[in-house]
Amino acid sequence: MPKTKSIFVCKECGHQSVRWQGKCPECDGWNTFSEEEQISENMQGHGSCLSRDDYRTEQPRPLKDIELKDSHRYQVGINEFDRVLGGGLVEGSVVLLAGQPGIGKSTLLLQASNSLSRNPRVNKVLYICGEESTSQAKLRASRLAGFDSSNMLIASETNLDVILEHIKNISPQVTIIDSVQVLYDPSVSSAPGSVSQVRECAAKLTYTAKKLGMALFLVGHVTKEGAVAGPRILEHMVDTVLYFEGERVTSFRVLRAIKNRFGSTNEIGIFEMTDKGLSEVENPSHFFLQEKPKDICGFCVTSSIEGTRPILVEVQALLTLTNFGMPRRQASGFDYNRLNLLVAVLEKRAGLQLANCDIYLNVAGGIDLDEPASDLAVALAVASNFKNKALRPGMVAFGEIGLGGEIKAVTCAKQRIDEASRLGFREIIIPKANLSGIENKSKAVLTGVDTLNEALNAGF
Ligand code: TYD
Ligand code: MG
Repeated sequence: MPKTKSIFVCKECGHQSVRWQGKCPECDGWNTFSEEEQISENMQGHGSCLSRDDYRTEQPRPLKDIELKDSHRYQVGINEFDRVLGGGLVEGSVVLLAGQPGIGKSTLLLQASNSLSRNPRVNKVLYICGEESTSQAKLRASRLAGFDSSNMLIASETNLDVILEHIKNISPQVTIIDSVQVLYDPSVSSAPGSVSQVRECAAKLTYTAKKLGMALFLVGHVTKEGAVAGPRILEHMVDTVLYFEGERVTSFRVLRAIKNRFGSTNEIGIFEMTDKGLSEVENPSHFFLQEKPKDICGFCVTSSIEGTRPILVEVQALLTLTNFGMPRRQASGFDYNRLNLLVAVLEKRAGLQLANCDIYLNVAGGIDLDEPASDLAVALAVASNFKNKALRPGMVAFGEIGLGGEIKAVTCAKQRIDEASRLGFREIIIPKANLSGIENKSKAVLTGVDTLNEALNAGF
């Protein structure tokens, strides 16, 4: 009997080594090596043959001669989903949907496949549920409304060869694999979920999808650290990587594109988990501010742009006296280093003595504020809690803060103002440089500020 050789493969980047190592020399990950049986020579290279066959016949042409075929996108029919995909699902594209267990990936894709099967341009949708039986999927579908399309076919299968056979027989326009970690390729000897299994299964499926022009969704689990489990290669192989995030205890979920070859990665889709599945949140600002307590010191609302949409979110700051020599700073939903920088500016330019305060910052609703326009709201929230004085009710602030305490102009000021006034905010603090370009038709009063001190005067 031939002796099977085992190798050690890094779970993060796919780096191979003949012996176990604590730290991966390729990606510097710690404790990422796992033992696997070596794949025979003729099995390797499925990933690399992907593109060659597909594109060999095509001759290089000038870019201007290449036609844009808009019809090659299918509308999923769930607006938030379509927006994150960049305006619909592209034919022949491969989308990886990653998220923590129980966050709602299967629910989202079950709803998406149902909705896609009603699209007149889509003949067949194949849903492979590897993690549950078809009757469990039926049970889930019975909680969601309107699953009566005969174009949606469902099978519970984990053997890759059988799945490829199904795809060949049915030729669906869209296939959903839930999840890639439970699949196994009989020609690879390692266990399902191992690096070589995930890589081979994903490569073969991707190859098939590109060849047949079929759109493919792969569900991927994430590790404790939040990265897609399995080799990084998986993220490189697919066209789009979506993350489905949210706190399991709250009903609110965010769909975010991390990589998208067919659209922007700035867009987010917002959903709410209800007893009838996921429902779209069409009015996110309303959703984020619905529980707003009145007149609490340390709270400030800002108008942030997520993708192309303005969303109002509340920034909350809490300051307490430091018990130890070193003040503690903690930020959730906001960059920690940026918070330190803003605290330094508040100390130096506005004269607030924050050196002996622990500062906790929180962005309500689980949103990440990563644009500089939210600086002003953070500074006002910190100052408000420091002064023990609430900001005037009905106030929104946005603007970037420089190290000199100056307030710099931001992009999309008009959209931010319109959204704030639409939601009933009547006072908006904005950078003075933005004021000149805006024709204020809203009911809100705009206050332009040049410096942090002016903003602090205007806010209280
Ligand atoms: P699921 O889609 O199975 O998560 P994943 O595939 O990401 O592991 O979602 C499971 C959770 O969603 C479960 O905790 C119950 C909840 N849920 C609802 O609240 N309402 C519903 O209608 C459905 C179908 C699920
Ligand atoms: Mg699932």
